[in-house]
Amino acid sequence: MLDRFLDKSLLGYTSLGYRWRAHPSIDVDLTGRVAVVTGATSGLGKYTATELARLGATVQLVGRNPGKTEEVAKAIAEETGNRAIQAEIADLSLMAEVRSLADRLETPIHILVNNAGVLLPTRTETAEGIETTFATNLLGHFLLTNLLVPKLAASAPARIVNVSSGGMYTQRISVNDLQNARGRYDGAKAYARTKRGQVILTELWAEALAPWGIVVHAMHPGWADTPGVSTSLPRFYKLTKPLLRTPAQGADTIVWLCASDEAARSTGLFWHDRTPRPTHRFAGTRESAEERRAFWSELCRYSGWSGTLDSLAAER
Ligand SMILES: NC(=O)c1ccc[n+]([C@@H]2O[C@H](COP(=O)([O-])OP(=O)(O)OC[C@H]3O[C@@H](n4cnc5c(N)ncnc54)[C@H](OP(=O)(O)O)[C@@H]3O)[C@@H](O)[C@H]2O)c1
Repeated sequence: MLDRFLDKSLLGYTSLGYRWRAHPSIDVDLTGRVAVVTGATSGLGKYTATELARLGATVQLVGRNPGKTEEVAKAIAEETGNRAIQAEIADLSLMAEVRSLADRLETPIHILVNNAGVLLPTRTETAEGIETTFATNLLGHFLLTNLLVPKLAASAPARIVNVSSGGMYTQRISVNDLQNARGRYDGAKAYARTKRGQVILTELWAEALAPWGIVVHAMHPGWADTPGVSTSLPRFYKLTKPLLRTPAQGADTIVWLCASDEAARSTGLFWHDRTPRPTHRFAGTRESAEERRAFWSELCRYSGWSGTLDSLAAER
C-alpha cells in the first residue's frame, strides 16, 4: 500500500521513498565475475563500480577522461582492497570509440551496466554529426551492447542493466526525430526521450537475448544528489537538495540488478527500488510495433551497426 502510494507520488523518488522501503544489504560473492560499468567516474556509476568491486567482481570502469578514470579506478581499488579494477577510455558519444572499446574488452564479461548519461541545456552535435544527448545516452549504448553480445553470450549467464530515468514516463519515442532537430530544442525532453528509448531497447534485447542466457533489465534511480544533477538541473537541485537520495540510495537497484539471484529470474523489466514498475503512466506514450521496428532500424542506420534484432537472436 505504502509502496504503491510512493510509486505514484514523486515522494517515492526522494530519499524518504528509499528509506520507507526496506532494503536488506546485498550480500553476494561476485568473485570471478567481470563487470563493465559505463559512466563510472561520477555519481551513480562510480558508486555502482565501487560496490561491485566490494562484492569481489573484476570491474572495468569506462570513462571518457583518462586522468579522471584512472584516478577513480585507483581510489576504488584502495577503498575496497580489490586490485582487479581497470580503466577503459572511450567517449561513448563517438561510434568509432565505442567500436574500439568493444574490440578491446575481453571475454568473459558477465555484467554490463549502461549508465553514462547527459542532460544538455543546448543542442550540440558530436564530431560524427550526431546530436550529443542521443549519441551518449542511447546510440553509444545500443552499439556497445550489440557488439558485446557475443562476448556476453560466451560468458553466460550474463546481465545487462540499463540506467534509465523516471523522466521517461513523460515522453514517447519520436522515431522521426531521434536527433532532436525539429522545433525548439528542449534538453529535458531530449533527455527523457533517450531514456524512453532505453526502456524500449531493454524489452527488445530481453526477448532476443534470452536464448543466449543474457538477462536484460532497466531501472530508474529516483532523484539522487550527483554532479550530473547539480550541473544539469541547478534550479531543481537547489529546490530538492534536502530530499535528494545519496548516490548509494540511487544506485542501490543497479547493484541489486547486477548481483542478486532474484533479478536473474526475470528479464525485460523496468525497476525502481528493487520492484518492477509499469513502463507507462500517461496516455499517448506507447509506441506501436511498427514504430519499434523503425526505431531499431534508425539506431542501426545512425550507429552503422549492420545486424538485425532477429540476427542477434539467431546468431547463437
Ligand atoms: N542522479 C539522478 O537523480 C538520476 C536520475 C535519473 C537518471 N539518472 C541517470 O543515471 C545515470 C548516471 O547519472 P549521474 O546522476 O550519476 O550523473 P553524473 O554524475 O553526471 O555521471 C555521468 C557519468 O557519465 C559519463 N559520461 C557522460 N558523457 C559521456 C561520454 N560521452 N562518454 C563516456 N562517459 C560519459 C560521465 O563522465 P565524466 O565524469 O567524464 O563527466 C560520468 O561518469 C545517467 O544515465 C542518468 O541519466 C540519474
